[in-house]
Amino acid sequence: MALFDRTSTIGFIGAGAVGGSLGVCLSRAGYRVVAVGSRTFASAQRFAERIDGCQAHHMAQEVADAVQLVVISTADDAIRSVAEGVTWRSGQLVAHCSGATSLDVFRHPVSQGAVAGAFHPLQAFSSVENGVDSIPGTTFGIEGSPEVRTALADMAQAIGGKPVFLNAEDKPLYHLTGVMMGNLLTCLAATAAQLWEQCGYSRAEGVEALVPMMRGVVNNLERSGVPGAVAGPYVRGDLGTIRKHVETLDARAPEVLPLYRELARAAIPFGVEKRALNPKIAQQIEVILEPPEI
Ligand SMILES: NC(=O)c1ccc[n+]([C@@H]2O[C@H](COP(=O)([O-])OP(=O)(O)OC[C@H]3O[C@@H](n4cnc5c(N)ncnc54)[C@H](OP(=O)(O)O)[C@@H]3O)[C@@H](O)[C@H]2O)c1
Repeated sequence: MALFDRTSTIGFIGAGAVGGSLGVCLSRAGYRVVAVGSRTFASAQRFAERIDGCQAHHMAQEVADAVQLVVISTADDAIRSVAEGVTWRSGQLVAHCSGATSLDVFRHPVSQGAVAGAFHPLQAFSSVENGVDSIPGTTFGIEGSPEVRTALADMAQAIGGKPVFLNAEDKPLYHLTGVMMGNLLTCLAATAAQLWEQCGYSRAEGVEALVPMMRGVVNNLERSGVPGAVAGPYVRGDLGTIRKHVETLDARAPEVLPLYRELARAAIPFGVEKRALNPKIAQQIEVILEPPEI
């Protein structure tokens, strides 16, 4: 018999944005999401109301007793203590949704015969409503034994996700790519939008102006990949424009200059790879972007 399949039962501990979104998508895909618990019973009730046949429980143990697969979708810091607070059955599957947490947090369940995995959606979740819409097409980073990988990969595919298998040592690197694309890209957009205040507009107006451009960038990346989609003054070799950028930031927003310099320097090898940027011009750009010696 398979370790876990669509006929098996699933329970969630942690009824937040990720747990709630996965619960709804798995239930819609025909999986039996039958139990949920959370720190606050009201959160578990809200989760259960969205899913036919799902029951909210007060205790994590009640969830674990009711199902074959327990997904611990709490904040990262709570995963280990939640897992340690439960008595596990032999052959039961337990998975967390964290990209930054290793399977070491599941020593206790494994010592009792449970089987451990990780099921991490490489996506930014802010609410269940948004999460449910964004799951199709999302990559899922999966960790575990071959049997666990198969079970969790089937689950990812059933909800429109794309599974990738990760070794423990590669997980932090994989996770930080998501952080760069989610959190840091948002910070970059926020930093750029803030500069609009110096042009007589609000930061919100800056966001409004820049978001359609971000969509264009995403389309370009999807269509042309790297280095095809990499463009701009560094790829064109527009030395005068780059010099003007550096001088302007130095005078008007010096706190942004180190960030600009580093990102601009990162563009240079892609411009050369694209054969759009002559290596001699690339060297001159490097000189303009070098921080002054102190
Ligand atoms: N957000 C993202 O973009 C994202 C993306 C990929 C993966 N993840 C991972 O997904 C997991 C969940 O993240 P999230 O964004 O869904 O967090 P979240 O919205 O804050 O939800 C976490 C839920 O866990 C509950 N909880 C916290 N401590 C608990 C405990 N000790 N026992 C039981 N329940 C507890 C919370 O309690 P209440 O009952 O008080 O509501 C809340 O409902 C994390 O491992 C995170 O790294 C997040």
